[in-house]
Amino acid sequence: MGPAVIAAFFAAAAAPTFSHDIAPLVYRRCATCHHGGGVAPFPLLTYREVARHAGQIATVTAKRYMPPWLPTAPHFQHEMKLTPGEIAMFGKWAAEGAPEGNPREEPKAPVFAEGWTLGKPDLEAEMPATFTVPAEGLDVYQCFVIRAPSPRAHWVRAIDIRPGNPKVVHHVILFQDISGTARQRDRGSGYPCFGTPGFLPARGLGGWTPGALPFVSPEGIPELLHANADLVLQVHYHPSGRVETDRTRLAIYYTPQPPKRRMMDIPFTSTRIDIPPGDAAYKVTDHFTVPVDVDAIGVIPHAHYVCRRMYAYAVLPDGTRRTLLSIPNWDFNWQGQYRYAAPIRLPADTRIEMEFTYDNSAANPRNPNQPPARVRYGPGTKDEMAGLHLQVVAVDPADEEELSNTLWGRMIRAQMGR
Ligand code: HEC
Repeated sequence: MGPAVIAAFFAAAAAPTFSHDIAPLVYRRCATCHHGGGVAPFPLLTYREVARHAGQIATVTAKRYMPPWLPTAPHFQHEMKLTPGEIAMFGKWAAEGAPEGNPREEPKAPVFAEGWTLGKPDLEAEMPATFTVPAEGLDVYQCFVIRAPSPRAHWVRAIDIRPGNPKVVHHVILFQDISGTARQRDRGSGYPCFGTPGFLPARGLGGWTPGALPFVSPEGIPELLHANADLVLQVHYHPSGRVETDRTRLAIYYTPQPPKRRMMDIPFTSTRIDIPPGDAAYKVTDHFTVPVDVDAIGVIPHAHYVCRRMYAYAVLPDGTRRTLLSIPNWDFNWQGQYRYAAPIRLPADTRIEMEFTYDNSAANPRNPNQPPARVRYGPGTKDEMAGLHLQVVAVDPADEEELSNTLWGRMIRAQMGR
């Protein structure tokens, strides 16, 4: 490298500009939510919009409050995470007075399409009626029932969800109900359902969080949509300060290919939750030892507002420890369903541990009880839960039955122990 090149390198490093450095990053990492009609309160699509918020952007990115992404480890698909270098660049840009640079270098702002990203769906449906979200008050959790949209069973390759009103829709989970319970509970505009949707088995088909891409099944592992199953959309609404209405839509994509492997769910939980007021580090645990070699594909954690830290790890037979999930600062509002960047191989006799920690002190800003009160296990907003679903496939399909039997036996023992 000649001295001119080195000088140019330091000049570039010393003075990030909007056109050259900030715009590509903001368009990639922020604009999915920060655009007109997006979930965020203001757009970040032009120099002026971004420059006006430069100081605030430096602060919220340094605190890792934005972009909202909870896991610190391991690596997941579609991570919304900034590198330390990118965070430093936002800080530096703000400190330098948010220079624009050469506008001709600036990339084109992204355009957010109206249609479905994956093309024409095989099944398209929407909430049976418009739902009205009050201007103020607590968040609303409502389940909407779409009755038997498919008379035939199908393998599902992907689902996509379009919130009718991104200003108030915070997240959505899609379930199917073959028990008929959901339609009985539906009073025309759905029914309230914080946490679980209130029927069993509650098989999720996927979900939507702001900024998320369509939910695509891992290759060769489609989900089964049962014939005449009711689809249930569980929607979390966050009042916006104005009365708003929503009618969320969904799209389902089929595949004729039956699964090559079967995805199985290893559930971890604890129902023995009883947290004294003021206890800032109340811990619950669960564990399971896999009887056969499996690949971990994804993980779905669940708890409410008092939970603070979620941790899951595997101890392999050779003693190696691998993190399966680390969320040091859980925030119910930004919960997600996470798929590993690459499957994690867990050999037979690997012990998997779940460890959730709850902060029921006044210092927890998300504690729904101020002053703190006793918190017990339950489905309500002021109750707590501990749930972690590890999605795995047996490495050898011949082992599926053994794994399934072991999981079944564990579930029966857990129910008898209650
Ligand atoms: C997944 C959606 C999403 C993404 C991605 C996202 N934001 Fe946000 N952002 C929001 C929402 C929603 C709010 C308002 C609610 C809140 O403050 O929690 C917000 C608020 C903010 C605020 C105001 C915070 C405050 O204290 O009032 C700033 C600044 C911000 N975002 C910057 C960014 C930047 C910079 C990025 C990219 C590096 C980004 N956001 C990515 C959804 C997002």
